[in-house]
Amino acid sequence: MTTAAAPLAYTPEVAAATSDLRRRLARVIPDVEWPVHAPYVAAIRRLARERGAVILAHNYQTPEIFHGVADYVGDSLGLARQAAACDARVIVQCGVHFMAETSKILAPDKTVLIPDLEAGCSLAASITGDDVRLLRERYPGVPVVTYVNTSAEVKAESDVCCTSANAVEVVESLGSDRVIFLPDEYLGRYVAGRTGVELVLWRGHCEVHERFTAEEIRAMRRFDPALHVLAHPECPPEVLAEADYVGSTSGMIDEVGRSGARRVVLITECSMSDNVAAAHPEVDFVRPCNLCPHMKRITLPKVLRSLETMTHEVTVDPEVARRARRAVERMLEVGRGSGR
Ligand code: 13P
Ligand code: SF4
Repeated sequence: MTTAAAPLAYTPEVAAATSDLRRRLARVIPDVEWPVHAPYVAAIRRLARERGAVILAHNYQTPEIFHGVADYVGDSLGLARQAAACDARVIVQCGVHFMAETSKILAPDKTVLIPDLEAGCSLAASITGDDVRLLRERYPGVPVVTYVNTSAEVKAESDVCCTSANAVEVVESLGSDRVIFLPDEYLGRYVAGRTGVELVLWRGHCEVHERFTAEEIRAMRRFDPALHVLAHPECPPEVLAEADYVGSTSGMIDEVGRSGARRVVLITECSMSDNVAAAHPEVDFVRPCNLCPHMKRITLPKVLRSLETMTHEVTVDPEVARRARRAVERMLEVGRGSGR
């Protein structure tokens, strides 16, 4: 029988070491929670330094991870760029498995750790490499664009990857009037509407974003007609039609600052509002809460354990990684070409 480790103690030394952060996060993390998080924040920061590790955290991570221990935060595109550019020996990926695989693909010589191997994604689970091969047989010569929310095996079968931040640009860069776009049907429909390219789509969906409804947004607007509505393109088309802005998670964060809006709703995963609220005390965030159960598998105690035991190491078969790297690097080249 295994017993759970005793929680770390909130000592005066921990309080002193984390006091700056405590002040910055006063609006986001309640007083009653701080003594639980702070000892882990202090221990993780110390051990990450000792191990030469960099902590990459997605925008959907909880505030204590996002603000407390991450060296870099961002959307999928930003994290991929950081993985490729950073010179740390170890990357701890606070996000889901496909993000850790992308880091390993771009940084094959680094040790990539994920604090919970079960942190998956409904989009990544919706398609296999065999499915892509069958689609290629059915549509010979049609280029394949895959969303980064896929396994390394699926990326290896693709011509180029994309994220929600650059999907339109990537599809347009191919100069083809027909493209196989996998696996997010709703992102695909959004891209088709913006490019005029005929997209062959797959029926993959994000289990978090597909739950939002247009009626939910109309009801919020009835309460406040000036509400600024920002939505992630993984939402169904009728939801996107109600939004004032559609973009990636980092795009939404930028838009909150740019818009000057006083009341905002982010139609995306729940932790985003908490993370953005710390930087925007002047904005009132309406918070419908759809959590990603995969992102929420990553917790401070698991991040600490990951650094202590150097687990769970994410590996990718070298030949699969080589082919997947071509598709991911081609995506990064598209961004460089446009200066993004
Ligand atoms: P972003 O690339 O916009 O951060 O999206 C990742 C994701 O998993 C959205 O659900
Ligand atoms: Fe996957 Fe959706 Fe979770 Fe993002 S929010 S990791 S797309 S299930």
